[in-house]
Parts: sequence; C-alpha cells; structure tokens
Amino acid sequence: MADAKFRLPPGLARSLPFYALKPWVKLGSPILLFEHLHKTYGNISCYKFMGTNIVFINDPDYIREILVTQASAFVKERTVRRMKILLGDGLITSEEPFHMRQRRIAAPAFHRQRIAAYGAQIVESAVAAADRIVVGQPFDMAAASMELSLEIVARTLFNAEVDDSIRSINDDTNAIMGLYNFIVAFPRIEKFLHWPIPKIVQFRRAKARLDSVVDRLIREHREAMARGEADNGDLLSMLLSSHIEVLDEAGKPTGQIETMTDNQVRDEVLTIFLAGYETVANGLAWTWYLLSQNPEVESRLHAELDAVLGTGPDRRLPTLADYPALRYTEQVFAESMRVFPPAWAMGRMSTRDVTLGPYKIPAGAHFFFSQYMISRTEAYYPDPLRFDPERFTPEAKAARHKFLYFPFGGGGRQCIGEAFAWMEGVFSIATLAQRFRFRYADPAPPVPQAKITLRPRDPLRMSAEVRP
Ligand code: HEM
Repeated sequence: MADAKFRLPPGLARSLPFYALKPWVKLGSPILLFEHLHKTYGNISCYKFMGTNIVFINDPDYIREILVTQASAFVKERTVRRMKILLGDGLITSEEPFHMRQRRIAAPAFHRQRIAAYGAQIVESAVAAADRIVVGQPFDMAAASMELSLEIVARTLFNAEVDDSIRSINDDTNAIMGLYNFIVAFPRIEKFLHWPIPKIVQFRRAKARLDSVVDRLIREHREAMARGEADNGDLLSMLLSSHIEVLDEAGKPTGQIETMTDNQVRDEVLTIFLAGYETVANGLAWTWYLLSQNPEVESRLHAELDAVLGTGPDRRLPTLADYPALRYTEQVFAESMRVFPPAWAMGRMSTRDVTLGPYKIPAGAHFFFSQYMISRTEAYYPDPLRFDPERFTPEAKAARHKFLYFPFGGGGRQCIGEAFAWMEGVFSIATLAQRFRFRYADPAPPVPQAKITLRPRDPLRMSAEVRP
C-alpha cells in the first residue's frame, strides 16, 4: 500500500508494450499515442513504460505548472538527456546551476538590440536564396529553407562565411535525424558508442564531422580575435572571451574566475547551430506550403508587403524600420507554427513528488505535452486545421491562455533564440514573397514527420512564379 499517498491520472492499465499491436502504438509515431490518450482519458492521462510513470498533458494550466510554477521540481526528460551524446553539455541538455551560467554568457548575443543588427544580414541571405530560385522549375522548398537558415545562423551568430564545410552541417544533421528513432530506443546507448554497430558507426562519423567543422570555426575565430579582426559582439566571441565565476556547492560566488574550456565552447556552438537553423527552416517550409493552399491569406500577405515595401520600380527590401509594420506577415508565421509547430513536443522528468490538480505523482515520472496536440484540439482552436492568421491579432492573442501557444517553450528554459527566430521568419517571408508566389507541385499533401523537429517526410516540391 506504499502507493496510497499517490494518485495517478487515468490511463492505460498495463505497461505500454502490452498494447504493442494496437494501431496507436507505433515506434517513431508518438503522436498516435498522444491522440489516443487524449481522446480516451481527457486532458491528463498516464501510462507506464519500463517501470516509469509517463504522464501526457493537454491542459495549459498544467503545462504552466511544469514549465513555470513548479519548474524547480523538474529536469529535462530522458530523450533530451540522451541527446548529450550529440550536444554534450550545451544550453539545451545541461541542468542547473551550470545551465544558468551558460545562459548568462550567451544571452547578450540574443538581446533585442543585438538582434536588430542581424536584420540586414538576414535580408541579404534571403535575397541570395531568392536569386538561387529558377522560376517555373520545381525545387525542394524544405532543402532550400535549410540552406537559407543555415547561412543566416552561420553569418550572424558565428561570423562564418558559408562554404562546403558549413553546408555539410546540413547533411550530417539529416543523417543524425535519420538515426533519431534508433538513438532514442537503444538502451544505454552511451555505453555502446565505441561499438562497431553500423548505425552507431554512422552516428559517430556524422558527429565527428560536425565537431571538426565547429572546431575549425572556433580556431579561426580565436585567430581573428588575436588579430583584432573579430566582431566582439558576435556569439562566438562572447563564448570565447567569457569569464565564469566559480560557485560553491550552495551556489554562492567564490570570487574565483574560470573561462570556458574548448569542449564547453564546442558544445554550445553545436547546440546553438543545430537548435537555431533546423527549427526556423521547418517553420518557413511549412509556411510556404500553407500559403500555397490558402490563396486568400496569400493575397493579403502580398497586399501588406506591397503597401509597406512598395511595388514595381519603387519596391525596396525590408529594413528594421519596416518590422513593426509587417504585422500580417508575423501573424502568418505565427499561425504556421501553430498548424505545424517545428518543436512539436516537450518533456520533463520530476525530481520530487509533484501535485497537479487532484493528482499526486511520484518523483521520477516523465511528463510530456505537445504544441502539435494543443494546436489541434478543437476546444482550444475551433476548426483547428484551418489556416487563419486572424488567430494572431493582438486582441486574439491577449484573450488566449499563454500556454495554448508555446512554440518556443516557456519559463527558465524558454528558447533563447525566440526574438531572433521571429525576425528571421518575418524578414525571410517578406523578402521572398515580395518577389515570388510559390505553388505546391505534388498531387498529395506533404506528410509531417515528428523527429526532433516536425519536418516534411519527403522533399517539399514547389515551384516559383514571379509576382508582377
Ligand atoms: C522557429 C524557430 C524555433 C523554435 C520553434 C524553437 C523552439 C524551442 C523550444 C520549444 C525550446 C525549449 C525546449 C525545452 O524547454 O525543452 C527551445 C530552446 C532553445 N532554443 Fe529554440 N527554437 C527556435 C529557434 C531557435 C534559434 C534561432 C536559436 C538560436 C540561434 C535557438 C536556440 C535555442 C537554445 C539554445 C535553447 C535552449 C535554451 C535553454 O534551455 O536555456 N532556437 N527552442
């Protein structure tokens, strides 16, 4: 009767493997399970897997409890911790108090003022992406968006020119995404990283190539700093010149100063690179698809761009001063990230017993909630699949619970790149949609695939028409 002090939410009576033959249990498709749990048990439900209690939540109040109100009772869940084999102890995978120190070092590179300085570079990269498009010839919009956002992160945050080695980041990331289900499912993979298992060898090679690109970036940056040529406000300079005050066990400053080791810098650089380009790229790719399916929204977007940026010979590129006027463009990007949220789910593990509403859940439980599921819940978003940027007018936003829309997470672990991502999204959409309309070139709709991010499963074939 040791369990009498706990009260678990309703849910599956037996451990998950017992249901292995059910259509809603499929390796690599957790959304099917989430949908089943939500439909059957409501906004909070529970199941067991290998002795661990797993709670699935589809309620904004409970999500706030986990991310904000009771955040100190939680750490990242197992899948994220497992990504340490790729990302080491960077901002995404580290825990307090180390995380907070790292966040303080990186934060100035993401301040609004600093991001404003990135605006012109974002537009420049978007123009180069537009110049690469051959009108009337179908191309893979997902790949083109990856190329654009990789270039933006490389140039703005790391002051790096985009060459083949930077482009190879995309291939290696794709290779690792392909291995993602394997990595997540492999028991104690950390212990087998040196084994000659084919998929582990593939992972090891991709990771080694990523590390060598990042190591080169760091080395070149150090040299440029020594010559006085680096821009000291960019992220890499900040990481390389940072001084961290050592804290004692109680978290108090000791007065002792240390700098980040090369490995620490490498973990942060790789983390920010990977977190910062794949997400935005998917957000953009889905936006172009959704616009192509919703001509009225597309026309309204074009009307805003023409009004703000001019038409014909008077047309000019967006600048920072235009940003506040590109409101509908921002609403389009916001609504796109509702329908297809690039970060489609999040999870935490409790480090002590937790009370959520009437439920008392023992320490060590895993908690999942999903931006994708929240967005597609009729009670929260009527006609949820309809693409309607009017859901993001200032009034509509103010009237909504904050945790009914959290593409960037929330609380102390909220995305550090959020403001950057909005600017990148809005300026990329504005620069490309000013010149082109994009048509979807396949008869069947794209299939979203829930990997670390929500990506189109197959190439997203689209073609461009020049706008008058
Ligand atoms: C549309 C684009 C983006 C989306 C949807 C997104 C989403 C998210 C989410 C949901 C989290 C929180 C994860 C959690 O709490 O478990 C997060 C964290 C993070 N994101 Fe983003 N992100 C985007 C763009 C970016 C960009 C552009 C950068 C950097 C250039 C970035 C860097 C990070 C980092 C470093 C963290 C960890 C922050 C911490 O724990 O202190 N992200 N992101």
